[in-house]
Amino acid sequence: MNPEGSKSFDNKTDTAGKDVLVRHVYSIEAENFSSAGEVSRRTKNLLKQLGVDGELVRKAAIACYEAEMNLVIHSWGGRLIFQVTPDKIQIITEDTGPGIPNIELAMKEGYSTASEQAREMGFGAGMGLPNIKRCASYINIQSKVGQGTTLEITFQI
Ligand SMILES: Nc1ncnc2c1ncn2[C@@H]1O[C@H](COP(=O)(O)OP(=O)(O)OP(=O)(O)O)[C@@H](O)[C@H]1O
Ligand SMILES: [Mg+2]
Repeated sequence: MNPEGSKSFDNKTDTAGKDVLVRHVYSIEAENFSSAGEVSRRTKNLLKQLGVDGELVRKAAIACYEAEMNLVIHSWGGRLIFQVTPDKIQIITEDTGPGIPNIELAMKEGYSTASEQAREMGFGAGMGLPNIKRCASYINIQSKVGQGTTLEITFQI
């Protein structure tokens, strides 16, 4: 996570024309385990400050953490966009990387291609994506092998 890469915009609208109350863009470095988890910590604090319901804050923080770690572990780097409109919270990750050849398989509990190094650090249970799906209202994954992956996580407020 690069703190300089965090920007905040006000008075913008999202693709559906809704007012964007909060928008932060964080860069995420591949294999940078020292600052891993920082983006989800900040996101959690922001949601608390906005007065979002505790259970929703908890779910969004879990999903954000799993999405953030997937970029650290599996991608070559990318960014995480955290956006709040009056009716939804969105966490979007965009990375360059190997991509996901079989999304259906990647969504299965226990499926993981995590490296030995990541496993030694306690990652690689293959539970991140299934957890994100469970927490969110809906998710959308787009991936191109050898190019990268976009994950869009939406929480209806
Ligand atoms: N951004 C990504 N780029 C490339 N592959 C990914 C990405 N995110 C997930 N994957 C693939 O999907 C698999 C399943 O992801 P998931 O988050 O469920 O498990 P994991 O990251 O391997 O382990 P855990 O999240 O439990 O630590 C990964 O092992 C990897 O093969
Ligand atoms: Mg994961």
